[in-house]
Amino acid sequence: MSKPETSNEANAPQPSATHADASRRNALKMMTLAGGVGLCGAAAIPAARFALEPLLDDAGGGKQRWVRAVRLDRLKPDEPTRVALIAEARDAFITETKELGSVWLVRRGAGVFCISVVCPHLGCSVTAKAEGVFYCPCHDSSFTKDGKRDKGPSPRDLDTLDTKIEDGWVLVDFKKFRMATAEKVAV
Ligand code: FES
Repeated sequence: MSKPETSNEANAPQPSATHADASRRNALKMMTLAGGVGLCGAAAIPAARFALEPLLDDAGGGKQRWVRAVRLDRLKPDEPTRVALIAEARDAFITETKELGSVWLVRRGAGVFCISVVCPHLGCSVTAKAEGVFYCPCHDSSFTKDGKRDKGPSPRDLDTLDTKIEDGWVLVDFKKFRMATAEKVAV
C-alpha cells in the first residue's frame, strides 16, 4: 500500500522552484546594488567639479597660489613683459581654463620682479613706458621701475607679487588686492 501524501508534503517547494526563487532574489539584489552605484557615481561628478572651484577662486585672502606664467628665456633682461595668468583645472572628464589676471614681469639678474597690472587707485590697467617705468592713464598716476608711487592719486605703490623659477618656468604667487587703500590688503 502506498503511503498517502500529507498536506505538508504536498505544499513543500520543489527543488527546482527553490532554485528559481533564489536566482530571482539575487537578480533583484544585483539590480538594487547597480542602481545605488549609478546614483553615487552621478552624485560624484558634481562633487568633483565643486572640489575644483576653490582652486580657481582662492587667489585672494593671502593664500598662496603658484601659477605658471611664462618660460624664463622668453623674458628679456630689464624689459617689462605683460603676461596673462591662466589657471587650469581638471576632473575626470574635462579641463577648464580661466584667466586669473595679468602681471608685469621684469627679468632682473637670476630672478624676476613682478607687479600687478591693476592700478591701486581705482583698478585701471597700468602700462609700461619705454623707459621701464609704469603709468596709469585713467588719472595720471605714475610709478618708478620698482613700482614705487611717483605722482598721481594712487594711494600706494603698485602691488608686487612673489615669483620663483622652476624647470625653466616663472611661477607667480597670484593674488588680488583691495583698491583705493593705502595698505596693501589681499582680498
Ligand atoms: S585708476 Fe589709476 S590713477 Fe586712477
